Amino acid sequence: MATLVAGIDSSTQSCKVVIRDAETGALARFGQAPHPDGTEVDPAAWWDALQAAVSAAGGLDDVAAVSVGGQQHGMVALDADGEVIRPALLWNDTRSAPSAEDLITDLGGPGEWSRATGSVLVASLTVTKLRWLADHEPDNAARVAAVALPHDWLTWKLMGAGSLDMLTTDRSDASGTSYFDAAAGQYRRDLLAMALRRESAEDIVLPRVLGPNQSAGIGDTAAGLGHLVLGPGAGDNASAALGLGMRRGDVAISIGTSGVVSAVAPDPVDDPSGTVNGFADATGAFLPLAVTLNGSRVLDATARLLGVDHGELAELALAADPGAGGLTLVPYLEGERTPNLPDATGSLLGMSVAGMTRENLARAAVEGLLCGQADGVAAVEALGVPVERIQLIGGGARSRAVQQVAPAILGRDVQLPEPGEYVADGAARQAAWVLAATEEPPTWQTSKVTTVEAAPTPEVRERYAERRHLVADRV
Ligand code: XUL
Repeated sequence: MATLVAGIDSSTQSCKVVIRDAETGALARFGQAPHPDGTEVDPAAWWDALQAAVSAAGGLDDVAAVSVGGQQHGMVALDADGEVIRPALLWNDTRSAPSAEDLITDLGGPGEWSRATGSVLVASLTVTKLRWLADHEPDNAARVAAVALPHDWLTWKLMGAGSLDMLTTDRSDASGTSYFDAAAGQYRRDLLAMALRRESAEDIVLPRVLGPNQSAGIGDTAAGLGHLVLGPGAGDNASAALGLGMRRGDVAISIGTSGVVSAVAPDPVDDPSGTVNGFADATGAFLPLAVTLNGSRVLDATARLLGVDHGELAELALAADPGAGGLTLVPYLEGERTPNLPDATGSLLGMSVAGMTRENLARAAVEGLLCGQADGVAAVEALGVPVERIQLIGGGARSRAVQQVAPAILGRDVQLPEPGEYVADGAARQAAWVLAATEEPPTWQTSKVTTVEAAPTPEVRERYAERRHLVADRV
């Protein structure tokens, strides 16, 4: 009988489970369950959703190993008894933006942070949420005995949530905390202490950082999971890279709740401008990435405004000419992280009587979303990271308009892997890797890829760049 492995994607909006053949990667079963809305969530809701998604996937009784990929950066603060102290603040919660500014000043400037941890601080990163806790909820901050990320906490729950010393993580997710030096592979407890305004953070339990195919332990026997080998897990972006089988020169643009440009790089990057985060990947290499807070929700909001569904939105956008009749949507609907404008709102610019059509508005939404991603690709490339192939994934990439307009905005061909659950797939591949105990992850058959071409429209990006600055200067 085939050996099965499971991969879990605990993402912002839902939990998904794939169960695959460890050797070939063939899909056996799938399940999913929703997460609550909001940027502050009780981790218990993720655990409930994980169990519901596992049941929907037919359970784990016949599965040999499992890994969890998860939304990055969420602050799960635990007390000495292992209880969650307060709901987790998620990566897209911008309340810690002033704390990020304060910490940048405390360490001596943005470049000090990118040198120390690979990233200039923005509200998404975990360390800023801890400073927010110290300043706004000092009683809660005083109780912090351990800090975990969503995937660390779920892995620990699968092991029975015993002692805090059983907490584990991996390089990819640790590198998103900004109290971990991704280049050296070491925690920076001095920065953690600085965030929590403590003399020392030596007594705080931080999850043990596992290697890419090192096991976190065995599942909870009392819950009937004693047969399961647990993988180290990963942050969702690193997990997607593993699921896609990305190599040097590959860039993924993932349009989910966030819009993420990520690339596999052999060496760490240090971008003192803060556009690119110098994270680690899930194979022992690095994963420089640029993240916007405004991904598929730009399409959701525009479809709602126009009273259409996603298919109709795409048809409208494709019925308009490039340039959207002069309209530019600068889509900072949820504030923005790249560029770092946490208090920004979106703007529609260039309105004229002739240009104000439903088609042009739909097109402007698609173009604005993609111009933000194109800026991310340019920033990654400017750091010397090779960009040879661009793959477009995520829920937003299912839009025909996004698919067709992307090569025009990016000025190069774009590859579309078949729609899939790449984060969960990467976690499953990692679980298979842990079982195989080989140097390289198992080679699974990769999905079919379609290449999309279009005539480049640099004028659309140029106009976006001019107008984006107008918005940025106003905030
Ligand atoms: C990455 C980031 C987002 C979340 C979304 O830095 O903040 O991509 O990981 O789940």
